[in-house]
Amino acid sequence: MAEKTNFSSKIGLVMATVGSAVGLGNVWRFPAETQANGGAAFLLVYVACTVLLGIPVMLAEFSLGRAGRSDAVGVFQRLSPRTAWWGVGALSILASYLILTFYMVVAGWTLVYLIQSVDGGLFDGLQTIHGTAAADGFFRQKMADYICTDTTPLLATYGMIAINIGVLVWGVQKGIERLSNVLMPVLFVILLALCCVTLTLPGAGEGLEFFLRPDFSKITPGVLVSALGQTFFSLSLGMGILITYSAYYPADTKLGKTSGIVSLMSLLVAVLMGFIIFPAVTSFGLADHELRGATLIFVTLPEVFANLPAPCVWSTLFFVLLLVAALTSCVSIAEVTIAFMQDRLRMGRVKATLVVLLPLVVLSALCSLSFGSLSGFTIFGRTIFDFLDNFATNILLPLVSIGVCVYVGWFAPAGLLRDELTNYGSRRSRSHVLVKWVIRFLAPLMIAMILLSNFIDI
Ligand code: PFF
Repeated sequence: MAEKTNFSSKIGLVMATVGSAVGLGNVWRFPAETQANGGAAFLLVYVACTVLLGIPVMLAEFSLGRAGRSDAVGVFQRLSPRTAWWGVGALSILASYLILTFYMVVAGWTLVYLIQSVDGGLFDGLQTIHGTAAADGFFRQKMADYICTDTTPLLATYGMIAINIGVLVWGVQKGIERLSNVLMPVLFVILLALCCVTLTLPGAGEGLEFFLRPDFSKITPGVLVSALGQTFFSLSLGMGILITYSAYYPADTKLGKTSGIVSLMSLLVAVLMGFIIFPAVTSFGLADHELRGATLIFVTLPEVFANLPAPCVWSTLFFVLLLVAALTSCVSIAEVTIAFMQDRLRMGRVKATLVVLLPLVVLSALCSLSFGSLSGFTIFGRTIFDFLDNFATNILLPLVSIGVCVYVGWFAPAGLLRDELTNYGSRRSRSHVLVKWVIRFLAPLMIAMILLSNFIDI
């Protein structure tokens, strides 16, 4: 395979995988989806999906990557030449590319918020920082200025595309990953600190109840599909990312342990965000304002910062960390398609990077404008941004995951899963028997049923 990322240490590899998994999906998408899908009931299904389906599918992807040692398409071609299984890999590349298209826009918003935090613009004109009445509507207006217009978010998206090209072409990816290894624990600490703040806000209880007390009648096929999609999104499943990363894992990396660490970190960040956002939403009376899902955290978090001493400092710190998290995720997802171009189409690094990222100048722009002048343009009743997110996350990711499970469970070379999960027989573990059963039967059937239930529901 082409010379790409060279991981120096094993811990670096696991951390890079965590870095790619923890991103805007946990911090931005999870609260939005939870709010849109009824709160605690969604959380419950999301946790169940992570444990029952997410971890086994992740193990299947890890095994595939390490056994095939190639890009998302190459692993299938190597392990099962002259079959059509590579199509699953191709679909994952399509999914990851579509996701990158709108993800770049949200990364751009993060950049705007960072810049506005540094120069104080975000809090400019805020009369009373303690007392929500004065802040009422203030940050929604700021959000509208920064996100629901054309020029600012578009320029920021272009800024992010340029930063990504820089990182990928000049090979500072390793540096970014190292940076993220240091900064992610800091993000964690900040989230914990913010939790302590929001949980003590007046009226926080109501928000907590929304987040933690499930109303089972709210579990509809739509909620199931959204929770499943969120599970795949936040664990980076079905995007080819984990296949591409695990292709670099040495033979003694414990795949089970790695999948446990990645899932736990991803869950923890998501749940912490829930503890921050929902108490704040009820405390600041934001629930009535029909906040659009995607913009939820960009209104709620500044409110939280405004209630702290030195809001600019908190805000800057938070958005720096979020930007790094978003950047490591963007870079890793772009790497999937770049690796494919380099390996399969024999393109050079620079050319492959440009071929992958330059079309985003148009595609991401359309997503960005769907909050501005294209907000009235819809596909199947959704804006371009929402349509892409929904289609890629809730349909493509589960489809790819079914393909991966069916392939690894039934069609991959005999013993692949056992070999990979026992590190080629050097570890005495019987867990592969259970994992294989889940991958063969439970996971594909459940994912298919959830997908179908939604179509029938429609
Ligand atoms: N798990 C990542 C996240 O939650 O942000 C998934 C991801 C999405 C990675 C989009 C990369 C990306 F561009």
